[in-house]
Amino acid sequence: MRLRNIKNAQDIISKSEYLVSNPKDYQGKYNKLFNNNHNIEIEIGTGKGNFIINKAKQNPNINFIGIEKYASVLVKCIKKLDDLRLDNLKIINIDANEIDEVFAKEVSKIYLNFSDPWPKKKHANRRLTSPLFLDKYAKVFKKDCLIELKTDNKNLFEYSLVNLSQKNYLFDEVKLDLYSDLDKDNIPTEYETKFVNLGMPIYKLVAQCKIAKKK
Ligand SMILES: C[S@@+](CC[C@H](N)C(=O)[O-])C[C@H]1O[C@@H](n2cnc3c(N)ncnc32)[C@H](O)[C@@H]1O
Repeated sequence: MRLRNIKNAQDIISKSEYLVSNPKDYQGKYNKLFNNNHNIEIEIGTGKGNFIINKAKQNPNINFIGIEKYASVLVKCIKKLDDLRLDNLKIINIDANEIDEVFAKEVSKIYLNFSDPWPKKKHANRRLTSPLFLDKYAKVFKKDCLIELKTDNKNLFEYSLVNLSQKNYLFDEVKLDLYSDLDKDNIPTEYETKFVNLGMPIYKLVAQCKIAKKK
């Protein structure tokens, strides 16, 4: 993704009440941060925030956390939040590589929307559905694992189906053209809107698995 370096991005986002500036301090205790016992759902690669902001607006009884590695992208998301009061939304500025140091057995669902495809084989571990990431996610899920993924990228979609199957996920939903039979509750992301306007098909899957109980 091409990024414009926004001056003072870090300063701007750190002033927002939505940003969790010390996310590792809340590991295993995110319900305390939200002050309730509602489920916690996270989006990795939140970008400019359209998806997670609208999810939070539409589902006041679920806590949402958007994770994004670039402060200069998050500035756009934080600006959209300026005039909103959403007690069930937080934003974290980290690389998802650190996800298992930030959460522990407390996440109910992970959203992966238009994740970077990393087409070169040597970068496969950076794909957010690589076995490496799926093993990290297993540590953050509370009870059962639930992953929802949307992408325009067929190769990433196929790669994700294979890796999720190999980790014993079962598929609740697999769509090869989301917009041919659009869910009424679909919330488009910024990238999704761009790709749909270009007439490209959008792939979607929802996968679940049970966390293996230790003997
Ligand atoms: C292609 S954009 C999609 C943005 C948004 N989800 C959408 O659909 O409009 C991918 C986003 O994921 C972020 N990202 C990629 N890898 C990441 C990682 N390892 N940790 C956190 N964010 C990541 C990028 O910075 C970028 O904002």
